[in-house]
Amino acid sequence: MLFRLKASILSALRIVSLVLPCSGTMAQAQDFDRNGLDSWLSSEQALAATKISANLLGNGAVLASPSRSGPNYYFHWTRDAALTIDVVLDLYVASNNPEDRAAYLQQAQNYVDFSLKIQSQPTLSGSIQDHFANFGEPKFEVGGVGFSQPWGRPQTDGPALRAVSLMRIYKLAQQRLDAQRQFSASMTGMKNALLADLEYTAYHWRDQGYDLWEEVRGQHFYNAMVQHRALVAGAAFVNTYGGQGDARRYLAEAAALETHLARFWDPGRGYFVETIDRSGGLDYKSSNLDSGVVLASLHAQGEQSYLSPTDDRILATAHALRSTFAALFPINSVSRDRAQHQLAPAIGRYPEDRYDGVGSSQGHPWFIATAALAELSYRAAALYAATDRILITAQNEAFFADLAGVGQGLHRGDTLTRGDATFRNVLDALLRSGDEYLARIRFHSAIGGELTEQIDRYTGYERGAIDLSWSYASLFKAVQARSQLILVLQQ
Ligand code: NOJ
Ligand code: NOJ
Repeated sequence: MLFRLKASILSALRIVSLVLPCSGTMAQAQDFDRNGLDSWLSSEQALAATKISANLLGNGAVLASPSRSGPNYYFHWTRDAALTIDVVLDLYVASNNPEDRAAYLQQAQNYVDFSLKIQSQPTLSGSIQDHFANFGEPKFEVGGVGFSQPWGRPQTDGPALRAVSLMRIYKLAQQRLDAQRQFSASMTGMKNALLADLEYTAYHWRDQGYDLWEEVRGQHFYNAMVQHRALVAGAAFVNTYGGQGDARRYLAEAAALETHLARFWDPGRGYFVETIDRSGGLDYKSSNLDSGVVLASLHAQGEQSYLSPTDDRILATAHALRSTFAALFPINSVSRDRAQHQLAPAIGRYPEDRYDGVGSSQGHPWFIATAALAELSYRAAALYAATDRILITAQNEAFFADLAGVGQGLHRGDTLTRGDATFRNVLDALLRSGDEYLARIRFHSAIGGELTEQIDRYTGYERGAIDLSWSYASLFKAVQARSQLILVLQQ
């Protein structure tokens, strides 16, 4: 009873947070509404939900994009699918409408069924007997068969991300009546599937594999971060039914991952690098500066958080990305939109990127990466608000110096606490900074709001796979984080 009450308050909050942008009761929100950003964001978030639904096939395959050629993205990628389903679950939690809720639950059910199917067969990434090495296969035909052509395999982040999404579905099925009804016959299968993903992660995280961009073979920051989250959440999960032995094992691996993660900090460069111990694949990523690090911090946030968006080294990395891409992409020399509204720079995957959305020539900004920088700003502000304290350090000093209107007066060693005028000013500036990234996305999106994968670095027009599920998911998550921050700032 108590729990259901709490859950319903939470879901009421989430509903508010989804529709909130129109209310504009606070000064900041009103400022931004001058240019209609609030209303654009709410319609864009709704469009993202519709477009994601359209990419979910009836058998549970999640299309990365409906594009079948130039490029062919008509596949189920384990990574993209888990991140996309997480948005479907957000929509379910936020919805009051029984028909919509039933539809979201059905989509989640289909995802579970498809996940069981692809887990059950050998792939070119390995055999099921080898601690589920087959799960490392990055992408599957929509019928459920592993991809059979050469590819950057294995990719060890997918099972960890899927474990997190399956655990979320499992818990919803324990907590909410309609979800319980929907999943009553699938609980055992779902539990086995997520335990297998945890097992894969605990056993295989040390394996050499390809990065989230499917190009470089080695050890990757993004993978280690989502693996760490999955194992910590997995330990809590198995503890609830007496799996103390497994819980200890997962936590031991999570602790080893923390030691491993410390190796990615490059004090000379002043940011987290994405890859260490490189053993193959592309060899021209000389800066090793990668927006995968920011995505990692976002995707690794769960009940607990490690290297969260307020970690000063994560902020240092965000700052390095911002200044590098500001100078690299010609479109970033346009820093205001037609209404003279400030735009943050469009962000790419990494500076040396050559993937143009179809083949290899020259890289471009990505919607995912630009939305990630927005989400990082919002989440950092919300976390600071929750801890009442901002510490300026040698690592994050440059990040703060860049924040319009407040940065110049902040120096390493300063501590801002709630009550200081500057504390509130920094939170407001983080909200504005996030909004400038989303305004950048608005500036380059299609008239109807459709999002592809990339933005042409010269013309500013969209390019690459159309209607990319992950582009919509990343936009959705950024807007959600913004709404949650605005609620916090209104308190
Ligand atoms: C397709 C991959 O999905 C993309 O990330 C990569 O950049 C290109 N192949 C080039 O290797
Ligand atoms: C290429 C991206 O690099 C990769 O991260 C993604 O999984 C696939 N495209 C599918 O969207």
